[in-house]
Amino acid sequence: MNIITPTADGSNTLYNETIGEHYHSKHGALQESKHVFIDAGLKFASAGKSEISILEVGLGTGLNFILSFEYCTQNKIKLDYNSIEAFPLTLDVINQTGYAEYVAPSIWNDFTANYDLALIKPQNISPLCILEIPHTTLAEFKADKKFDVIYYDAFSVQHQPEMWSDAMIAHACSFLKPGGTFVTYAITGKLKRAVKANGFTIEKLPGAPGKREMLRAVKALV
Ligand SMILES: C[S@@+](CC[C@H](N)C(=O)[O-])C[C@H]1O[C@@H](n2cnc3c(N)ncnc32)[C@H](O)[C@@H]1O
Repeated sequence: MNIITPTADGSNTLYNETIGEHYHSKHGALQESKHVFIDAGLKFASAGKSEISILEVGLGTGLNFILSFEYCTQNKIKLDYNSIEAFPLTLDVINQTGYAEYVAPSIWNDFTANYDLALIKPQNISPLCILEIPHTTLAEFKADKKFDVIYYDAFSVQHQPEMWSDAMIAHACSFLKPGGTFVTYAITGKLKRAVKANGFTIEKLPGAPGKREMLRAVKALV
């Protein structure tokens, strides 16, 4: 059961009773998504590019997706967005988040009109965006392509430690192109070591409000 819960910046998140954790920071869902994934991830990785491919771990409510879709649309960047989701929310729950007010109506409509279909196969949801939501676990996910960016937005290590094991991080990193960018809201010594072991250069960046630091890592070119 997921319960809609307000966060400190006025945006909602969901509280997942089974896991015992919120989908976003209680200090602000919208500001966390913008800070970690859009500003530190997408803007950094898409600078000077006309197309970008993103692999997200955990689509959840789709907040990271709609903000990415809007940014790419505004900046005429072609977006190929794949977001693995083991436990998809219903469209009804997604409509209750209130996130429609944070993006243009066309962005929200293109997302929600294609959500159920994107869980089955890739959808051209606009001339500039393909959305696919593989309904699977990260452990079982396979792809015949590599991505420019990974948004690693799993539940925390306290609540879902298996998502942060060295093997799972290596598996996720294997889907990134050389020179690709891995971003996540979390940062621990173990995570930094796991990412470095896969040939990444790591950066500690200021975290979203409520977190001192976050991790961005760039995969070696060779
Ligand atoms: C922190 S929430 C992600 C929030 C999301 N990015 C958003 O903007 O709403 C973690 C997500 O990972 C999903 N998840 C849990 N276990 C998973 C697994 N093994 N593989 C893929 N996704 C998983 C959850 O269902 C949840 O949607």
